[in-house]
Amino acid sequence: MDPASDPSSAQLNREAPWDAFDSDAYSEHNYRALRPDDHQIIEIVRDHFAAHFHGRRPERPVTGVDVGAGANLYPALAMLPWCREITMFERSAANVAWLRSQVAGYAPNWDEFWEVLLHGDGYAEVPDPRAALRAAATVQPGDLFRLPSRRWGMGTMFFVAESLSTSHAEFRKAVNSFAEALEPGSPFAAAFMENSEGYQVGDHWFPACAVTEHDVEATLAPYSEDMEIVRIALPGEQAALREGYTGMIVACGRRGAV
Ligand SMILES: C[S@@+](CC[C@H](N)C(=O)[O-])C[C@H]1O[C@@H](n2cnc3c(N)ncnc32)[C@H](O)[C@@H]1O
Repeated sequence: MDPASDPSSAQLNREAPWDAFDSDAYSEHNYRALRPDDHQIIEIVRDHFAAHFHGRRPERPVTGVDVGAGANLYPALAMLPWCREITMFERSAANVAWLRSQVAGYAPNWDEFWEVLLHGDGYAEVPDPRAALRAAATVQPGDLFRLPSRRWGMGTMFFVAESLSTSHAEFRKAVNSFAEALEPGSPFAAAFMENSEGYQVGDHWFPACAVTEHDVEATLAPYSEDMEIVRIALPGEQAALREGYTGMIVACGRRGAV
């Protein structure tokens, strides 16, 4: 076994080969077709954002951020009706290039994800999501451990804090950094793999740390108001994304004043 793929070997965020992340392989494996667990997560996040904004585009311009956007567009699409600007914040040079090409005109597989969003209040107000994403999104290279504080008015962070190193301290630091980047009152959604042992993307192994609902609650609660956490069970072994995780966790809430 490649030593880097041994779940017992520690790997910090700065040690993983982020620039060699195979964005196409990742997107193809995870998002070529809409999976039942992502479907459930999208409904939860869509309804959380729509309820926060009462289904109407806010009068005051809102800026959103998707932290560690990677090769996934659906968190940004979920913010689209509510934001004038969306920052897609990402460390990997490969994912930055992938995001820029998709923002210019995204691939047809994302239409299925948009269809689910369209069932929520307010989403039909966006007549052309491709043009809207192109107009709103900016891809920003950077390290989430150095995010500015209180910069954005809504935010998402999907499968990032627990999937960037084997360190629980870095998991907590990443969650703190995400929460601190939001202004008080900002609605947010964050998703996590439960008990992940790490993951293969193309030719490279990437580290993860095993977290549960309890870890997510303990880390986000000090920053949050009205937070709800939902555990999404594995959709059955046949349909599981890969080996080495036990489910998904989604947390939705509002950034508190602290
Ligand atoms: C498992 S992928 C998740 C990608 C995407 N958000 C999704 O939902 O599929 C983890 C992402 O975190 C990014 N990442 C890792 N360390 C980071 C850091 N320090 N700052 C910003 N992004 C980082 C990786 O490049 C990768 O895109």
